[in-house]
This record gives sequence, C-alpha cells and structure tokens, in this order.
Amino acid sequence: MKTVLSLKLNGRDRDDVVPDNMLLVDYLREVAGLTGTKIGCDGGECGCCTVLVDGNARHSCLTLAATCGGSDVETVEALDSNGRLSDIQQGFHEKLGAQCGFCTPGMIMAAEGLLRENSSPTETDIKGALAANICRCTGYIKIIEAVQWAAEQRREGKAA
Ligand code: FES
Ligand code: FES
Repeated sequence: MKTVLSLKLNGRDRDDVVPDNMLLVDYLREVAGLTGTKIGCDGGECGCCTVLVDGNARHSCLTLAATCGGSDVETVEALDSNGRLSDIQQGFHEKLGAQCGFCTPGMIMAAEGLLRENSSPTETDIKGALAANICRCTGYIKIIEAVQWAAEQRREGKAA
C-alpha cells in the first residue's frame, strides 16, 4: 500500500507518494535526496538518524514516513543560512566536536531541539538531550563544549 505524504520539509511544502512501510530516514535520503541524515545502527540505538519532527528530536530510523503527514520535518540541511553555519554547527567546528563526523548531524539536530526549548542548558541538560546519540570518536566532552558554545552564542544573539 502507498500513501500520499504531505509535509513541510526544511521549510518547504512537498507531496510524495511513499510506501506505507517506508522509514522516514529512507524517505529523507532516497526520495528527498537529503543524505545529511545518516544511518548508523538502523535500529534505534545510535541516534545518527536524528531529525526534528515538529521541533522534537526523533530517530528517523524508527519513524514511518507516512506518520509524518502534516508535520514540520527538519534535517541538518535546514540549519545553515546562505552558506553560513548555524551556531551549533559552528560550535562543533570551534570546539572540535566532530572527528569522523558520522554522528554529527544527529548530534546537531538533538542539540538544536534542546536549544530551542532551553537556551541556558546545564551540562546535565545537554547530556540528557544527547543521551540517545552515540559517538565512537570524541569521548563527548568536546561535543558538550560545542553545545555550550552554541548556547552562549544564541543567548548573546549571535546566532547565524
Ligand atoms: S540509525 Fe537510527 S538510531 Fe541508529
Ligand atoms: S565523530 Fe565519529 S562517531 Fe562521532
């Protein structure tokens, strides 16, 4: 069975016919061509596939695309502004929060969801927001520093 999926993707309305059992991550990568969202474990364990659905961080490998009808879906491709990195993207750059970078889009989207709700997160808040995201390279300290840097930029109105 197939469904007409109508949603807002990175600020643009679109309609696509998708199989009922198509995962959101496959829709994003294969139908919409947005390959910034990564597939790591493909089973809800690593967070590489994290996107925002109506502002909430969601594992797109555990979400059926067809359930996102009418939703506002955002991927990492939505964050830059005219080629300028977002504050969180810049934070990962400034604080060396990415090594291989495979987990980074998911980390950034989880952090984006956090900072929209809480512009002054504590270290514990950041750890909580990123608890479902695994990095095999950095040891997490640099990632937390990247989010703290971005939060400070956002509070000071320096957000990209
Ligand atoms: S690919 Fe979705 S949680 Fe790992
Ligand atoms: S930077 Fe390599 S998995 Fe996180």
